[in-house]
Amino acid sequence: MNVMIVKDYDEVSFEGADIVEYVVKNKPEAVLGLATGSSPIGMYAELAKRVKERRITFKDVKTVNLDEYVGLGAADDQSYVWFMNHNLFDNIDIDKRNTHLPNGKAENLQKECARYSELLKSFPQDLQVLGLGSNGHVGFNEPGTPFDSKTHIVNLTANTIKDNSRLFASIEEVPKRAITMGISEIIAAKKILVLVSGENKAKALRAMAKGEISEDCPASILQRHPDVTVIADKAAASLL
Ligand code: GLP
Repeated sequence: MNVMIVKDYDEVSFEGADIVEYVVKNKPEAVLGLATGSSPIGMYAELAKRVKERRITFKDVKTVNLDEYVGLGAADDQSYVWFMNHNLFDNIDIDKRNTHLPNGKAENLQKECARYSELLKSFPQDLQVLGLGSNGHVGFNEPGTPFDSKTHIVNLTANTIKDNSRLFASIEEVPKRAITMGISEIIAAKKILVLVSGENKAKALRAMAKGEISEDCPASILQRHPDVTVIADKAAASLL
């Protein structure tokens, strides 16, 4: 695991964009695994800027997202599909037909999990972007999730509901369940990029990079992956 420590959030975003740019320039039809949350927003804005400057194109890129809340869809501004459209897809030259997320509004959620797992087999990620939950989760794989898990439905922990409530009008509005890519499907990516920023991530980052490899900290499995780059700002790296 290569840990790069930079000054602040803006530098995390810039360095992260450099890695995405490198992957896409080397393979214009690359499959990118993408994440939501505060961590990648700045990187997505930087990528959109580079598209406008014609430095990079997403014309042939395919994307698969990590997760979605159960019950939310494209019309809900708290959904992850809305987030991706708003923060990235609407601002770059990607063909939206090449973008994929789990469908949180599927009638049969088990079937949707199976569909998404099958889809991931056709779109093996050249690069998977990850944020890090303050409890060590990746995607919505909460502590205790088996490392061999595939796409599944999750009951969110109280900790995650609280963390994510900042983006909702009230904590009651945060969905209690989500659909997430499984850990085995995340680590199947050829290359992984983890963006970590802020003091509230310091403990989780230490557990991920230096702690015991254990299902209690889902992100710790990344220690076994051969090509992981972590970009952390000073505050997040303060306990390393
Ligand atoms: C959320 C998302 C994750 C994200 C993580 C960190 O619950 N499901 O994919 O990486 O929490 O979020 P943030 O970047 O906002 O701190």
